[in-house]
Amino acid sequence: MAGKIRWGIVGTGRIAHLFAQGLGALKDAQIMAVSSRTKETAEKFAAEFGVPNRHIGAESLALDKDVDVVYIATPHPMHKDDTIKCLKGGKAVLCEKAFAMNVSEATQMIGAAKEKGLFLMEAMWMYFFPAMAEIRRFVAAGAIGEIRLVQANFCFRKEWQPQGAKLNPALGGGALLDVGVYNIALAQMIYGKEPVRISSMAHIGQTGVDEQSSMIFGYEGGAMAVLTCAVRTETPLEAAIYGTNGYIKIPHKFFQPDKIIVKAGQEREKEIKFERLGNGYNYEAAEVMQCLREGKMESLIMPLDTSMAIMRTMDSIRQQWNLVYPMEKN
Ligand SMILES: NC(=O)c1ccc[n+]([C@@H]2O[C@H](COP(=O)([O-])OP(=O)(O)OC[C@H]3O[C@@H](n4cnc5c(N)ncnc54)[C@H](OP(=O)(O)O)[C@@H]3O)[C@@H](O)[C@H]2O)c1
Repeated sequence: MAGKIRWGIVGTGRIAHLFAQGLGALKDAQIMAVSSRTKETAEKFAAEFGVPNRHIGAESLALDKDVDVVYIATPHPMHKDDTIKCLKGGKAVLCEKAFAMNVSEATQMIGAAKEKGLFLMEAMWMYFFPAMAEIRRFVAAGAIGEIRLVQANFCFRKEWQPQGAKLNPALGGGALLDVGVYNIALAQMIYGKEPVRISSMAHIGQTGVDEQSSMIFGYEGGAMAVLTCAVRTETPLEAAIYGTNGYIKIPHKFFQPDKIIVKAGQEREKEIKFERLGNGYNYEAAEVMQCLREGKMESLIMPLDTSMAIMRTMDSIRQQWNLVYPMEKN
Protein backbone atom coordinates (compact mmCIF):
# COMPACT_ATOMS: atom_id res chain seq x y z
CA MET A 1 0.00 0.00 0.00
CA ALA A 2 1.81 3.13 -1.19
CA GLY A 3 0.95 6.75 -0.38
CA LYS A 4 -1.21 7.88 2.50
CA ILE A 5 -3.36 5.39 4.34
CA ARG A 6 -6.96 6.53 4.24
CA TRP A 7 -9.00 6.12 7.41
CA GLY A 8 -12.72 6.03 8.03
CA ILE A 9 -14.15 6.45 11.53
CA VAL A 10 -17.42 4.94 12.78
CA GLY A 11 -18.91 6.92 15.68
CA THR A 12 -18.22 10.50 16.74
CA GLY A 13 -17.94 10.20 20.52
CA ARG A 14 -15.14 10.90 22.95
CA ILE A 15 -12.67 8.30 21.77
CA ALA A 16 -13.30 9.01 18.08
CA HIS A 17 -12.17 12.59 18.75
CA LEU A 18 -9.04 11.47 20.57
CA PHE A 19 -8.17 8.96 17.87
CA ALA A 20 -8.67 11.53 15.12
CA GLN A 21 -6.32 13.87 17.01
CA GLY A 22 -3.82 11.00 17.29
CA LEU A 23 -3.93 10.43 13.53
CA GLY A 24 -2.94 14.07 13.17
CA ALA A 25 0.53 13.10 14.45
CA LEU A 26 1.05 10.67 11.53
CA LYS A 27 2.16 12.26 8.25
CA ASP A 28 1.06 9.25 6.19
CA ALA A 29 -2.48 9.08 7.61
CA GLN A 30 -5.54 10.83 6.28
CA ILE A 31 -9.11 10.75 7.59
CA MET A 32 -11.28 10.42 4.51
CA ALA A 33 -14.67 9.52 5.98
CA VAL A 34 -16.75 9.50 9.13
CA SER A 35 -20.07 7.86 9.91
CA SER A 36 -22.56 8.74 12.58
CA ARG A 37 -26.15 7.94 13.46
CA THR A 38 -27.13 11.44 12.37
CA LYS A 39 -26.13 13.77 9.54
CA GLU A 40 -25.58 16.65 11.98
CA THR A 41 -23.02 14.85 14.15
CA ALA A 42 -21.22 13.44 11.08
CA GLU A 43 -20.95 16.96 9.66
CA LYS A 44 -19.81 18.48 12.93
CA PHE A 45 -17.03 15.88 13.29
CA ALA A 46 -16.10 16.23 9.60
CA ALA A 47 -15.82 20.01 9.94
CA GLU A 48 -13.64 19.69 13.05
CA PHE A 49 -11.14 17.31 11.42
CA GLY A 50 -11.44 18.33 7.75
CA VAL A 51 -13.01 15.02 6.71
CA PRO A 52 -14.36 15.06 3.13
CA ASN A 53 -16.83 12.12 3.17
CA ARG A 54 -19.74 11.84 5.61
CA HIS A 55 -22.03 8.85 6.09
CA ILE A 56 -24.99 7.79 8.15
CA GLY A 57 -24.17 4.37 9.57
CA ALA A 58 -21.26 1.95 9.22
CA GLU A 59 -22.87 0.16 6.25
CA SER A 60 -22.56 3.25 4.09
CA LEU A 61 -19.01 4.03 5.18
CA ALA A 62 -18.05 0.41 4.51
CA LEU A 63 -18.72 1.01 0.80
CA ASP A 64 -16.70 4.24 0.59
CA LYS A 65 -14.05 3.76 -2.11
CA ASP A 66 -11.84 6.44 -0.57
CA VAL A 67 -11.27 4.40 2.61
CA ASP A 68 -8.63 1.71 3.27
CA VAL A 69 -9.14 1.06 6.97
CA VAL A 70 -11.95 1.75 9.43
CA TYR A 71 -11.65 2.58 13.11
CA ILE A 72 -14.73 1.43 15.06
CA ALA A 73 -15.47 3.78 17.97
CA THR A 74 -19.02 2.83 18.96
CA PRO A 75 -20.11 1.25 22.29
CA HIS A 76 -19.05 -2.41 22.70
CA PRO A 77 -22.43 -3.97 21.79
CA MET A 78 -22.13 -2.39 18.31
CA HIS A 79 -18.56 -3.59 17.66
CA LYS A 80 -19.49 -6.93 16.13
CA ASP A 81 -21.99 -5.61 13.59
CA ASP A 82 -20.00 -2.49 12.72
CA THR A 83 -16.79 -4.52 12.27
CA ILE A 84 -18.44 -7.19 10.13
CA LYS A 85 -20.17 -4.57 7.94
CA CYS A 86 -16.84 -2.87 7.27
CA LEU A 87 -15.02 -6.15 6.57
CA LYS A 88 -17.79 -7.17 4.17
CA GLY A 89 -17.31 -3.81 2.43
CA GLY A 90 -13.66 -4.78 1.88
CA LYS A 91 -12.11 -2.58 4.58
CA ALA A 92 -9.42 -3.43 7.11
CA VAL A 93 -10.63 -2.78 10.67
CA LEU A 94 -9.25 -1.47 13.95
CA CYS A 95 -11.98 -2.06 16.56
CA GLU A 96 -12.08 -0.47 20.00
CA LYS A 97 -11.87 -2.47 23.22
CA ALA A 98 -13.71 -4.36 24.57
CA PHE A 99 -13.30 -6.08 21.20
CA ALA A 100 -16.76 -7.68 21.49
CA MET A 101 -19.33 -8.53 24.15
CA ASN A 102 -18.26 -12.17 24.35
CA VAL A 103 -16.33 -15.00 22.69
CA SER A 104 -19.16 -15.83 20.33
CA GLU A 105 -19.18 -12.30 18.85
CA ALA A 106 -15.38 -12.14 18.68
CA THR A 107 -15.35 -15.48 16.82
CA GLN A 108 -17.77 -14.11 14.24
CA MET A 109 -15.67 -10.96 13.74
CA ILE A 110 -12.46 -12.94 13.31
CA GLY A 111 -14.24 -15.38 10.97
CA ALA A 112 -15.36 -12.47 8.78
CA ALA A 113 -11.80 -11.07 8.61
CA LYS A 114 -10.36 -14.47 7.68
CA GLU A 115 -13.07 -15.07 5.07
CA LYS A 116 -12.34 -11.73 3.40
CA GLY A 117 -8.56 -11.97 3.90
CA LEU A 118 -8.52 -8.60 5.64
CA PHE A 119 -6.62 -7.06 8.52
CA LEU A 120 -8.39 -6.90 11.90
CA MET A 121 -7.07 -5.73 15.26
CA GLU A 122 -8.47 -4.79 18.67
CA ALA A 123 -7.53 -1.22 19.59
CA MET A 124 -5.59 -2.18 22.73
CA TRP A 125 -3.61 1.08 22.53
CA MET A 126 -1.76 0.28 25.79
CA TYR A 127 0.34 -2.38 24.02
CA PHE A 128 1.85 0.13 21.59
CA PHE A 129 3.42 2.64 23.97
CA PRO A 130 7.24 2.61 23.82
CA ALA A 131 7.26 1.95 27.59
CA MET A 132 5.25 -1.25 27.07
CA ALA A 133 7.68 -2.39 24.38
CA GLU A 134 10.49 -1.80 26.89
CA ILE A 135 8.64 -3.81 29.56
CA ARG A 136 8.24 -6.69 27.09
CA ARG A 137 12.00 -6.53 26.39
CA PHE A 138 12.88 -6.55 30.11
CA VAL A 139 10.59 -9.48 30.82
CA ALA A 140 11.73 -11.49 27.78
CA ALA A 141 15.38 -10.91 28.70
CA GLY A 142 14.75 -12.21 32.23
CA ALA A 143 15.89 -8.90 33.75
CA ILE A 144 13.59 -9.35 36.77
CA GLY A 145 13.72 -13.13 36.81
CA GLU A 146 10.73 -15.42 36.53
CA ILE A 147 7.47 -13.49 36.80
CA ARG A 148 5.46 -14.46 39.88
CA LEU A 149 2.88 -11.69 40.27
CA VAL A 150 1.15 -9.00 38.21
CA GLN A 151 -0.94 -6.36 39.97
CA ALA A 152 -3.12 -3.72 38.33
CA ASN A 153 -5.85 -1.33 39.43
CA PHE A 154 -8.07 0.47 36.96
CA CYS A 155 -10.77 2.12 39.02
CA PHE A 156 -12.46 5.47 38.49
CA ARG A 157 -15.62 7.13 39.78
CA LYS A 158 -18.17 7.98 37.12
CA GLU A 159 -21.15 10.07 38.22
CA TRP A 160 -24.45 8.22 38.59
CA GLN A 161 -25.88 8.08 35.04
CA PRO A 162 -27.83 4.83 34.78
CA GLN A 163 -28.58 5.38 31.07
CA GLY A 164 -24.95 6.15 30.17
CA ALA A 165 -22.52 3.66 28.64
CA LYS A 166 -20.64 2.99 31.91
CA LEU A 167 -23.69 1.68 33.80
CA ASN A 168 -26.30 0.76 31.21
CA PRO A 169 -26.37 -2.98 30.42
CA ALA A 170 -27.85 -2.30 26.97
CA LEU A 171 -24.68 -0.36 26.13
CA GLY A 172 -22.38 -3.04 27.58
CA GLY A 173 -21.89 -1.14 30.85
CA GLY A 174 -19.78 -2.32 33.76
CA ALA A 175 -16.16 -2.03 34.79
CA LEU A 176 -14.89 -5.35 33.42
CA LEU A 177 -15.49 -4.68 29.73
CA ASP A 178 -14.70 -0.99 30.05
CA VAL A 179 -11.47 -0.96 32.05
CA GLY A 180 -10.88 -4.41 33.56
CA VAL A 181 -9.98 -5.39 30.01
CA TYR A 182 -6.73 -3.39 30.40
CA ASN A 183 -5.76 -5.26 33.57
CA ILE A 184 -6.41 -8.58 31.87
CA ALA A 185 -4.56 -7.46 28.73
CA LEU A 186 -1.54 -6.55 30.90
CA ALA A 187 -1.52 -9.96 32.61
CA GLN A 188 -1.95 -11.65 29.21
CA MET A 189 0.96 -9.62 27.78
CA ILE A 190 3.28 -10.49 30.67
CA TYR A 191 2.47 -14.19 31.00
CA GLY A 192 1.67 -14.81 27.32
CA LYS A 193 -1.01 -17.29 28.34
CA GLU A 194 -4.41 -17.54 29.97
CA PRO A 195 -4.85 -18.25 33.68
CA VAL A 196 -5.69 -21.82 34.65
CA ARG A 197 -7.67 -20.65 37.70
CA ILE A 198 -9.78 -17.55 38.21
CA SER A 199 -11.38 -16.37 41.45
CA SER A 200 -13.35 -13.17 41.38
CA MET A 201 -15.93 -11.17 43.23
CA ALA A 202 -18.03 -8.31 41.87
CA HIS A 203 -20.45 -5.79 43.24
CA ILE A 204 -23.33 -5.80 40.78
CA GLY A 205 -25.12 -2.47 41.23
CA GLN A 206 -28.68 -1.28 40.73
CA THR A 207 -28.45 -1.23 36.94
CA GLY A 208 -27.34 -4.88 36.86
CA VAL A 209 -23.71 -4.34 35.83
CA ASP A 210 -20.42 -4.74 37.72
CA GLU A 211 -19.60 -1.46 39.47
CA GLN A 212 -16.44 -2.93 40.92
CA SER A 213 -14.65 -6.23 41.06
CA SER A 214 -11.46 -7.96 42.05
CA MET A 215 -9.97 -10.94 40.32
CA ILE A 216 -7.20 -13.32 41.20
CA PHE A 217 -5.70 -15.35 38.39
CA GLY A 218 -3.56 -18.44 38.92
CA TYR A 219 -1.11 -19.74 36.34
CA GLU A 220 0.70 -23.04 36.04
CA GLY A 221 3.59 -23.09 38.49
CA GLY A 222 1.87 -20.78 40.98
CA ALA A 223 2.33 -17.38 39.34
CA MET A 224 -0.59 -15.01 39.94
CA ALA A 225 -2.30 -11.80 38.85
CA VAL A 226 -4.34 -9.65 41.25
CA LEU A 227 -6.52 -7.18 39.41
CA THR A 228 -9.18 -4.66 40.42
CA CYS A 229 -11.49 -2.53 38.30
CA ALA A 230 -14.33 -0.11 39.03
CA VAL A 231 -16.54 2.56 37.52
CA ARG A 232 -17.84 4.02 40.83
CA THR A 233 -14.69 3.96 42.98
CA GLU A 234 -11.49 5.82 42.27
CA THR A 235 -7.96 4.50 42.86
CA PRO A 236 -4.58 5.43 41.38
CA LEU A 237 -4.33 3.62 38.05
CA GLU A 238 -1.13 1.73 38.80
CA ALA A 239 0.37 -1.63 37.93
CA ALA A 240 3.41 -3.66 38.87
CA ILE A 241 5.15 -6.81 37.70
CA TYR A 242 7.11 -8.80 40.28
CA GLY A 243 9.70 -11.42 39.42
CA THR A 244 12.12 -13.65 41.32
CA ASN A 245 14.90 -11.12 40.69
CA GLY A 246 13.22 -7.70 40.85
CA TYR A 247 10.18 -5.78 39.75
CA ILE A 248 8.81 -3.19 37.33
CA LYS A 249 6.35 -0.57 38.57
CA ILE A 250 4.14 1.25 36.08
CA PRO A 251 2.86 4.44 37.72
CA HIS A 252 -0.49 6.18 37.13
CA LYS A 253 -1.81 5.83 34.35
CA PHE A 254 -0.34 2.39 33.68
CA PHE A 255 -2.26 1.88 30.43
CA GLN A 256 -0.63 4.93 28.82
CA PRO A 257 2.80 4.88 30.43
CA ASP A 258 5.42 7.58 29.99
CA LYS A 259 7.65 6.19 32.70
CA ILE A 260 8.48 2.91 34.44
CA ILE A 261 10.48 2.09 37.57
CA VAL A 262 12.70 -0.96 37.34
CA LYS A 263 14.53 -2.80 40.09
CA ALA A 264 16.64 -5.60 38.66
CA GLY A 265 18.59 -7.81 41.04
CA GLN A 266 20.75 -5.96 43.57
CA GLU A 267 20.61 -2.69 41.62
CA ARG A 268 18.72 0.29 43.01
CA GLU A 269 15.36 1.30 41.55
CA LYS A 270 15.88 3.02 38.21
CA GLU A 271 13.32 5.37 36.65
CA ILE A 272 13.09 5.25 32.87
CA LYS A 273 11.20 8.03 31.08
CA PHE A 274 9.79 7.91 27.57
CA GLU A 275 8.96 10.79 25.29
CA ARG A 276 5.37 10.72 24.10
CA LEU A 277 4.72 11.56 20.47
CA GLY A 278 1.18 12.72 19.74
CA ASN A 279 -1.56 11.81 22.23
CA GLY A 280 -0.67 8.09 22.28
CA TYR A 281 -3.43 6.84 19.98
CA ASN A 282 -1.03 7.41 17.09
CA TYR A 283 1.08 4.43 18.24
CA GLU A 284 -1.64 1.84 17.64
CA ALA A 285 -2.62 3.58 14.38
CA ALA A 286 1.01 3.49 13.23
CA GLU A 287 1.10 -0.27 13.91
CA VAL A 288 -2.06 -0.79 11.84
CA MET A 289 -0.61 1.22 8.97
CA GLN A 290 2.70 -0.65 9.11
CA CYS A 291 0.80 -3.97 9.00
CA LEU A 292 -1.26 -2.79 6.03
CA ARG A 293 1.85 -1.69 4.16
CA GLU A 294 3.42 -5.10 4.81
CA GLY A 295 0.25 -6.91 3.71
CA LYS A 296 -0.28 -8.49 7.13
CA MET A 297 -3.71 -9.60 8.31
CA GLU A 298 -2.86 -9.36 12.02
CA SER A 299 -0.53 -7.46 14.29
CA LEU A 300 2.17 -9.53 15.98
CA ILE A 301 1.91 -7.24 19.02
CA MET A 302 -1.88 -7.49 19.34
CA PRO A 303 -2.82 -10.66 17.44
CA LEU A 304 -6.38 -11.94 17.28
CA ASP A 305 -5.46 -14.93 19.47
CA THR A 306 -4.69 -12.43 22.24
CA SER A 307 -8.07 -10.75 21.80
CA MET A 308 -9.70 -14.18 22.00
CA ALA A 309 -7.71 -15.10 25.13
CA ILE A 310 -8.79 -11.85 26.84
CA MET A 311 -12.39 -12.40 25.75
CA ARG A 312 -12.42 -15.99 27.06
CA THR A 313 -11.09 -14.77 30.39
CA MET A 314 -13.78 -12.06 30.60
CA ASP A 315 -16.52 -14.54 29.68
CA SER A 316 -15.39 -16.89 32.40
CA ILE A 317 -15.29 -14.08 34.99
CA ARG A 318 -18.80 -12.94 34.06
CA GLN A 319 -19.99 -16.52 34.31
CA GLN A 320 -18.84 -16.54 37.95
CA TRP A 321 -20.99 -13.44 38.56
CA ASN A 322 -23.98 -14.61 36.48
CA LEU A 323 -23.75 -11.34 34.57
CA VAL A 324 -25.58 -11.81 31.28
CA TYR A 325 -26.14 -8.78 29.04
CA PRO A 326 -29.60 -8.16 27.50
CA MET A 327 -28.31 -8.83 23.97
CA GLU A 328 -27.05 -12.23 25.16
CA LYS A 329 -30.48 -13.34 26.40
CA ASN A 330 -32.83 -15.01 23.97
N1 LIG B 1 -8.89 3.16 23.86
C1 LIG B 1 -9.34 3.99 24.76
O1 LIG B 1 -8.59 4.70 25.42
C2 LIG B 1 -10.81 4.10 24.98
C3 LIG B 1 -11.28 5.12 25.79
C4 LIG B 1 -12.64 5.28 25.91
C5 LIG B 1 -13.48 4.39 25.25
N2 LIG B 1 -13.00 3.38 24.51
C6 LIG B 1 -13.92 2.44 23.82
O2 LIG B 1 -14.44 3.11 22.68
C7 LIG B 1 -15.83 2.83 22.51
C8 LIG B 1 -16.59 4.16 22.52
O3 LIG B 1 -16.35 4.83 23.73
P1 LIG B 1 -16.57 6.41 23.91
O4 LIG B 1 -16.05 6.75 25.25
O5 LIG B 1 -16.08 7.17 22.74
O6 LIG B 1 -18.16 6.46 23.94
P2 LIG B 1 -19.11 7.67 23.57
O7 LIG B 1 -18.43 8.99 23.83
O8 LIG B 1 -20.41 7.37 24.20
O9 LIG B 1 -19.23 7.54 21.98
C9 LIG B 1 -19.71 6.42 21.34
C10 LIG B 1 -20.24 6.86 19.99
O10 LIG B 1 -20.79 5.71 19.37
C11 LIG B 1 -21.91 6.09 18.56
N3 LIG B 1 -23.07 5.23 18.86
C12 LIG B 1 -23.64 4.35 18.03
N4 LIG B 1 -24.67 3.75 18.59
C13 LIG B 1 -24.79 4.25 19.83
C14 LIG B 1 -25.71 4.03 20.90
N5 LIG B 1 -26.71 3.16 20.80
N6 LIG B 1 -25.53 4.74 22.01
C15 LIG B 1 -24.51 5.61 22.13
N7 LIG B 1 -23.62 5.85 21.14
C16 LIG B 1 -23.76 5.18 20.00
C17 LIG B 1 -22.17 7.55 18.86
O11 LIG B 1 -21.67 8.28 17.76
P3 LIG B 1 -22.72 8.91 16.73
O12 LIG B 1 -23.60 9.79 17.56
O13 LIG B 1 -21.85 9.63 15.80
O14 LIG B 1 -23.47 7.78 16.11
C18 LIG B 1 -21.35 7.86 20.09
O15 LIG B 1 -20.88 9.18 20.10
C19 LIG B 1 -16.20 1.88 23.65
O16 LIG B 1 -16.18 0.55 23.20
C20 LIG B 1 -15.11 2.09 24.69
O17 LIG B 1 -14.82 0.96 25.47
C21 LIG B 1 -11.67 3.23 24.36
